[in-house]
Order: sequence, then structure tokens, then C-alpha cells
Amino acid sequence: MIKKFFITGTSSGIGLALAQMLLDSGHVVVGIARRNAISHKNYHHNTLDLADIEEVEKFTFKVNHDFEELILVNNAGWIGEVKPVGKLKDQNIARLNNINITAPSILMNRFLDQTENSGIERTIVNVSSGAAKSTIRSWAGYCASKAAIDMFSRVIKEEHPDVNVYSIAPGVVDTEMQRDIREVDAKDFADVDRFRSMKAEGELKSSEDVARVFVDLLENKEKTLGTVFSLRDL
Ligand SMILES: NC(=O)c1ccc[n+]([C@@H]2O[C@H](COP(=O)([O-])OP(=O)(O)OC[C@H]3O[C@@H](n4cnc5c(N)ncnc54)[C@H](OP(=O)(O)O)[C@@H]3O)[C@@H](O)[C@H]2O)c1
Repeated sequence: MIKKFFITGTSSGIGLALAQMLLDSGHVVVGIARRNAISHKNYHHNTLDLADIEEVEKFTFKVNHDFEELILVNNAGWIGEVKPVGKLKDQNIARLNNINITAPSILMNRFLDQTENSGIERTIVNVSSGAAKSTIRSWAGYCASKAAIDMFSRVIKEEHPDVNVYSIAPGVVDTEMQRDIREVDAKDFADVDRFRSMKAEGELKSSEDVARVFVDLLENKEKTLGTVFSLRDL
């Protein structure tokens, strides 16, 4: 049976790989990003800046009964301005929180409300990070936003036991986000060499590898490890 996915950040990296894999399997994907990289009969794109909360509040989860499952994947994310606290621009702090926690929270709220009486199985996947649990200098806002999405997910699971809710750290993945991280000046980011070395040593996963595991977990939910977990722990 066909499933309907709502996925943020479908224009690059993990979100693009996941959307393409799902479309190849015959599912329907509604994507959100500022750019669009997909052309497919079962793909519907919403050009939206998730930092623009007034626009996010207009997003509607259209449901009909042709689908076996409705799945929201909050995948879009921003590493933020990579600098120690004290050197950040105020508007970048607000922008990061809008993209990484406020917009996903609003989308989850609207998803749960607008699909409540659908009678269809419902699933939420938030793409979290190991940075939710480990401190990384110059990533304070990013670390805090990922810790917030983990906790938001845990509370939803208690409120809505009938909904499948996951907040999953994917590991280090070879995407535009990692490219941006490696390009930061060492004076702003003390750990930059660690990220440059990981890339040089070929230690990054591909987006396709991560997407494949996400698809497998969604098809075999008994393989998931509770609400908040890392792909490293599987
Ligand atoms: N790569 C890693 O090593 C890693 C590790 C742990 C967690 N993650 C998480 O994985 C998720 C996906 O990241 P990625 O690595 O695949 O990065 P990516 O290649 O940079 O992709 C990020 C996606 O988010 C979208 N996005 C960013 N800002 C947006 C905005 N203001 N409005 C709408 N969409 C926005 C981008 O679309 P547009 O630019 O077109 O808007 C893009 O499609 C993120 O939540 C990230 O925190 C990544």
C-alpha cells in the first residue's frame, strides 16, 4: 500500500536521498525546502523558508484515505552560525531556533491535529544529532535545538501512544551541512580539523546509506530503539 510522506529539507543531503528512495518505491512525497531538486509525478514541492514562522503556520496536511500511513519527517536543519556564544548575531540565534525547533514543533502540532480523525497509522520522524547529547564548541544553538527536538519527541510519545514517534541521530553524513562545517575558520571553530580529518579519512556515511536505514526502520518498526536513538546503536 502507498504511504504519504511529508518531508522537510528535500533539496539536498539526507532529505533528498530519502525522498528519491521513497518515490522510487511508489510512495507519495510532499516536500518542503527553499530550493527544489525533484521532478516526479508523485512529488509535490512547497517552496518555504522554515525560518519564516508565519508561512510555516499556513502549511496544511492534506489527507485522503488512499494511504496506508501518514509520515512527517522533520529533516531540514541548519548548523547555525559556527562561532562561540558571545560572537553570534542575535538574528542568527533566532533563525537557527526557528528552523531547527520552532518550525518542526509547529509542523508536528499541525500534523497531529489535522490527521487526528483520519483513522490512518501516523508516524513522526525527527532527524536529530549526536550533538543533542555531546557538547561541541561553537555549536551551542545547534546542540540545544537537537536536545530540544529529542525532548519534544519524548513528550509527544507519552501524549500520543498511538503515534509512532522517533528522534534519530544519523551519524556523520557527507552532505552540504558537513561541507559548510569544514569551511569554517579554525579561529571560530576549535574542532574544525576533526571534521576535515573525518572527511579525508573517508569516515562519513552517504545520504543514501542513511536513507536506506530510515526506510528499513519505517518498514520494520520493531527494529527501532525507543523514541530517541542513534543509528550508531542499531
Ligand atoms: N550531515 C550530518 O553529518 C548530520 C549529522 C547529524 C544530523 N544531521 C541532520 O540531518 C538533517 C539533514 O541535514 P543534511 O546533513 O542532509 O544537510 P543539507 O544537505 O545541508 O540539507 C539540509 C536541508 O534542509 C533544508 N533547509 C535548511 N534550511 C532551511 C530553511 N530555512 N527552510 C527550508 N528548508 C531548509 C535545505 O533546503 P534549502 O537549502 O533548499 O532550503 C536542505 O534540503 C539536519 O536536521 C541535520 O541537522 C546531519
